[in-house]
Amino acid sequence: MKHFTQFEHKSVADKLIELALTYKKSPRVDLSKGLGKRVGCIFLNPSLRTRASTQIAAMNLGMEAIVMNMDKEGWALEMQNGAVMNKGTVEHIKDAAAVLGTYFDVLAVRAFPSLTNKKEDTEDFIFSQFIKYAGIPVVSLESAIRHPLQSLADMITIQEHMIAGKKPKVVLTWAPHIKAIPHAVANSFAEWAIGCGHELTIAHPEGYELDKKFTEGATITPNQKEALENADFVYVKNWSAFDDYGKIHSTDSSWMLTEAHLKNAPNAKVMHCLPVRRNVELSDEILDSERSIVQKQAENRIYAAQAVLSNILGG
Ligand code: CP
Repeated sequence: MKHFTQFEHKSVADKLIELALTYKKSPRVDLSKGLGKRVGCIFLNPSLRTRASTQIAAMNLGMEAIVMNMDKEGWALEMQNGAVMNKGTVEHIKDAAAVLGTYFDVLAVRAFPSLTNKKEDTEDFIFSQFIKYAGIPVVSLESAIRHPLQSLADMITIQEHMIAGKKPKVVLTWAPHIKAIPHAVANSFAEWAIGCGHELTIAHPEGYELDKKFTEGATITPNQKEALENADFVYVKNWSAFDDYGKIHSTDSSWMLTEAHLKNAPNAKVMHCLPVRRNVELSDEILDSERSIVQKQAENRIYAAQAVLSNILGG
């Protein structure tokens, strides 16, 4: 069964990027491919881009997309096996996921981490329950540890903006934030950038080391200034501490990217997955400048999702 949950192999990523770029040129070229098929988009957490882009991607393939905001509209789900359900939860994931598996051809799920239970989060426990019980292909709309549709869109965006024949220097830099933020986007971006063969540098204050399984092969430094030198792509993202799980160790505003930070990176394009807290994570000056390609990333979410759904439909 074809699930889409993480980076698999460069050859797979290359094919998805190529297909996404084909769809970007002709979004409705495969309009009959998904006729009669349904994708269920299950959100346990809020979304703007993932929700709309996945629905549009499905429509471009002739599929029907049904969105359920389970946090607001669904029954409260019980995730623990063997639970005596005499408290707040109404329906067990075993039953709910199995029912959804009979209604849809593909299930797409967003399930954020708790940021309090490190073991369950790092095992991607909630997301994996959907895979376990749905019995149909499952697409990650962002799990506790990964956001692969975002990363695929990011790789497409880098490919569109890189200079032919030049290996780009890609930098992932931590940014301040007022809340404890999941690691999924940073983990996935590292996983995909390294897997796709990019030279990746990760800059963050001490105490913000990501899970090593996502960053092997990257240069990691607490020196943001050095990291940014001659960068071609700068991906700005906050994440909470991983070792001291889910904690905020720093809100140091000197890490917020401004034009001054990029004086030794004249050609750098700046990326962010959005939503972004302006003038906390990233300055207006950067976001409203020619350097920013955040809207391109968001647009490419459609074609990333379309390539993934098309690949699952096969043929
Ligand atoms: N980047 C992203 O996943 O955006 P949403 O949370 O709005 O879907």
